[in-house]
Amino acid sequence: MDNFEFFNSTRILFGQGQIAALAQQVPADAKVLIVYGGGSIKKNGVFDQVTAALGNRQWLEFAGIEANPHYETCVEAVKLARREQVDFLLAVGGGSVIDATKFIAAAASHEGDPWEIIATFGGAVTGALPVGCVLTLAATGSEMNQTSVITRASSHDKLFFNSDFVRPVFSILDPATTCSLPVRQVANGVVDSMVHVLEQYVTYPTNAKVQDRFAEGLLATIIEEGPKALSDPDNLEVRANLMWSATMALNGLLATGVPGDWASHLIGQELTALHGLDHGQTLAIMMPAIWTYKFEQKKEKLVQYGQRVWHIQETDQDLIARQAIEKTRAFFEQMGVATRLSAYGLDAAVIPQVVAKLEEHQFVALGEHGDITPSDAAKILELAL
Ligand code: NZQ
Ligand code: ZN
Repeated sequence: MDNFEFFNSTRILFGQGQIAALAQQVPADAKVLIVYGGGSIKKNGVFDQVTAALGNRQWLEFAGIEANPHYETCVEAVKLARREQVDFLLAVGGGSVIDATKFIAAAASHEGDPWEIIATFGGAVTGALPVGCVLTLAATGSEMNQTSVITRASSHDKLFFNSDFVRPVFSILDPATTCSLPVRQVANGVVDSMVHVLEQYVTYPTNAKVQDRFAEGLLATIIEEGPKALSDPDNLEVRANLMWSATMALNGLLATGVPGDWASHLIGQELTALHGLDHGQTLAIMMPAIWTYKFEQKKEKLVQYGQRVWHIQETDQDLIARQAIEKTRAFFEQMGVATRLSAYGLDAAVIPQVVAKLEEHQFVALGEHGDITPSDAAKILELAL
């Protein structure tokens, strides 16, 4: 286990009815900009709960944040925030709305071209408006981290930035808000949160026992509860366990002192930007293919994962590792998320497109060993056809 620094300052308010706590969490004299997406929060009662809790505070709204939020839309929100001199941003939605709000918060305090924030992966951020969140989709962990993923639609660039300035001040996690999710988004969220754990776990052994066992606990929970969210959608205990798992999967804790892979995410981002696949769908495609391609380097952790999480009883190490990959693929498919490019109508023509974008973005040394080049990515995508 390597040296590490661990910091997380987001206050979490978890459980049913917690949206009312906005009354205490948002400064009483704040002028609030409520940022949201396509309107699900107006149908499921979340918007009404939010505005009731804000009480007499001054608030405005900015609607229309897309899934895989567009830079072009966010800069319009920045103009509104500046013109109206808002001093608190409240994201109400899933990862896309939260990520967009983080970008708006940083861009509102940034002099010059806002794209610099993304071009420098967050290095150019020197301040931000405070961000609070009401989460409505368990998946990304954005509610408790310093990452934001933004897409410039005009050029098909999906990129991320990191900054402690945009880490949410607080996040309200009411599992009941997730009951109105469409099945596809429930499934995407299960896959995304599971892959977040796996990106930080299926690498190589570093004797980081605490992180490994946290990871195994989260994986066991997601595997147990994920299918129940589909078969028993109104079960709030299931929703609660999935929501907390997703937040814990990407709040920095699992990453402490251990290597991370993230190749599924970075190659997957290009597939979303080029062809519009959902984030979770790209991960279900990429992860089994990357594990197959990097089988020897990942074998020890695949065996540990197969034995401890899937309880595979075989003795042959290769067999255990292969079965761990197949069980993971079968789980994604069981959740209804297809694991092959062909299932989304894509063929080998995407390979050179993805390779060109990886090169353009300088994502040329991926994986926990930094040894996945764009030509390796091409071979991995062939395995995923
Ligand atoms: O726009 P609305 O109307 O809100 O509808 C959304 C959207 O259509 C809908 N939805 C959300 N909550 C709902 C609901 N519908 C009914 N009831 C509810 N309670 O779900 C759709 C998808 O929402 P979105 O926010 O896009 O999904 P998700 O939370 O999966 O976020 C995906 C985005 O997060 C990024 C992804 O790349 C993608 O852009 N990620 C962010 C990360 C981070 N910040 O740390 C890490 C992740 O790896 C990921 O990359
Ligand atoms: Zn993800």
